[in-house]
Amino acid sequence: MAHSIDEAVSIIHKHTHNFLPKVGIILGSGLASVAEQIENPVAIPFQAFGIETGSVFGHASLLVMGTLQQVPVLCLKGRLHLYEGTPFETVRTLIRIVKQLGVHTLIVTGAAGSLREDMVPGDIMVINDHLNFMPINPLVGPNDESIGPRFLSMREAYNPGLIDTFKAVGSRLQISLKQGVYLSLLGPSYETAAEIRAFRTLGADAVGMSVVPEVIVARHCDMRVLGVAAITNLAEGLSKEVLSHEATVEQGKLASLKMSKLIANFIKDIGPNRV
Ligand code: HPA
Repeated sequence: MAHSIDEAVSIIHKHTHNFLPKVGIILGSGLASVAEQIENPVAIPFQAFGIETGSVFGHASLLVMGTLQQVPVLCLKGRLHLYEGTPFETVRTLIRIVKQLGVHTLIVTGAAGSLREDMVPGDIMVINDHLNFMPINPLVGPNDESIGPRFLSMREAYNPGLIDTFKAVGSRLQISLKQGVYLSLLGPSYETAAEIRAFRTLGADAVGMSVVPEVIVARHCDMRVLGVAAITNLAEGLSKEVLSHEATVEQGKLASLKMSKLIANFIKDIGPNRV
């Protein structure tokens, strides 16, 4: 049964004894191992606080809370996808729950296909902007002015200061990073070669089926956002490989090790406080 945001937060507080996370991490396909670094984790299935996942595979989506590099964090493991039929209102509620729990900085990760020859499977792309090609905007509907404005500015949606910090972490760890524009699609079918050619002319560097709805809702309630894409494949038409989810998950696992190191060090650098 659906709960209000307040009810969801009080259910979560009962499980976690009022733990106050400061940094949130949303994990994309194949990136679940990032959550394994969390110390003293408490895991709560989304259903326990009224978020229906609609997943046909039956594996629970989990909210995991604990500390990472001494920073109190919250991690969403097994994200909601609109292509599963999850209403965008559910995604919106989940992100607002994250904010109400205390999170001020949200790291949004996702698997993506590359539109550039110089960006290959296993690469990590810092997202500096997006093109929303999903047929919805998650802020559609009545607006609650106490949460955010009716007409939200998307300027610097991907926080330039956080991007600089993340890039500095990459240099320190000698992990080379790419940077670019993420184009979001509903899915679940992959793109055609013609679509990919068209998206290249529009300025997209990577395509994926997530990230954007969460980023819009997070910005609306004034969380700082860092977006990071794990490149799992070359987009349709750029390679001989036939695209499949299995390959995406496998390649995501390869990027996962790098992603884990980058995220842990990034969280250490930004610390618990919003500056
Ligand atoms: N297209 C859309 N979404 C994706 C892709 C892709 O090529 N790879 C991983 N997620």
